[in-house]
Amino acid sequence: MINVKSPTLARLNQIIHADCLQELPHFADNSIDLTVFSPPYDSIRDYKNNWSFDFIALGQQLYRVTKDGGVAVVVIGDGTKNFAKSLTTFRLAVNWCDQLGWKMFETCVYRRDGNPGAWWNQRFRVDHEYIMMFFKGEHPAIFQKEHLMVPSKHAGKIYTGTDRLTNGGFKKIEPKAVNPMKCRGTVWQYATSNTEGNKLKLYHPATFPDKLAEDLILTFSKPDDTVLDPMCGSGTTCVMAARNQRTYIGIDIAEEYCEIARKRIAIEGVATPRLF
Ligand SMILES: C[S@@+](CC[C@H](N)C(=O)[O-])C[C@H]1O[C@@H](n2cnc3c(N)ncnc32)[C@H](O)[C@@H]1O
Repeated sequence: MINVKSPTLARLNQIIHADCLQELPHFADNSIDLTVFSPPYDSIRDYKNNWSFDFIALGQQLYRVTKDGGVAVVVIGDGTKNFAKSLTTFRLAVNWCDQLGWKMFETCVYRRDGNPGAWWNQRFRVDHEYIMMFFKGEHPAIFQKEHLMVPSKHAGKIYTGTDRLTNGGFKKIEPKAVNPMKCRGTVWQYATSNTEGNKLKLYHPATFPDKLAEDLILTFSKPDDTVLDPMCGSGTTCVMAARNQRTYIGIDIAEEYCEIARKRIAIEGVATPRLF
């Protein structure tokens, strides 16, 4: 039974101009199926203001509003200062799991393909961030990976190898044909956003690829589910949610980014899913 008075329902399919830490407390408990977002971290980008951020308070609110079996995905990396990584990512993961009740489903590497990066004399050229996937409850309510299948390199060949045993020994396995397709692993590679030809997105300094958001939405939600982005920037998560028949809620502290998100949703011709 849908509660029509739910404060979360009243916000469906909206881009809200607000500080998410002020806005989320107004949401109903257990009302969000999936959250996909990328927070500002370690002052990597100059936004219009210099916000500091309380990741614990955010994780706490997200946990409260997420349904049992719901998932929250954080796309995040680590800055470097005086040669040392900030560890923002690892700290967030440990704090969310140890203090707030979240469980870590997986941490995938988002490999930023085509990212030229800077030429650092005494450092690697960093071309990845993390895709941290947390769930609430016993297990994610939805997990679909058919859309993530990739062709097997050795499709059609007969595999005649051995399996490694836990005691270090080997066991010969029955010859079997290699499947034509296999599931994507834990390194997810995407062209960086500015290769998508989406001009509106370029007005925001730090977007993630449409396809990254879409892959997560298809994996962890079903049609009519509610997808939240509490720091929606140019609206990538919300656009992809609406395009895939999910309802969405986007929040951003900067009105100019909210405007971009609203325009994107309108201009990209997204069919907004039905309200209940
Ligand atoms: C990395 S960007 C998100 C970009 C987005 N994923 C996209 O593809 O366009 C982070 C966003 O967080 C917003 N932000 C920072 N602090 C915030 C807060 N307290 N509440 C809501 N939004 C915030 C910034 O304005 C910025 O647009």
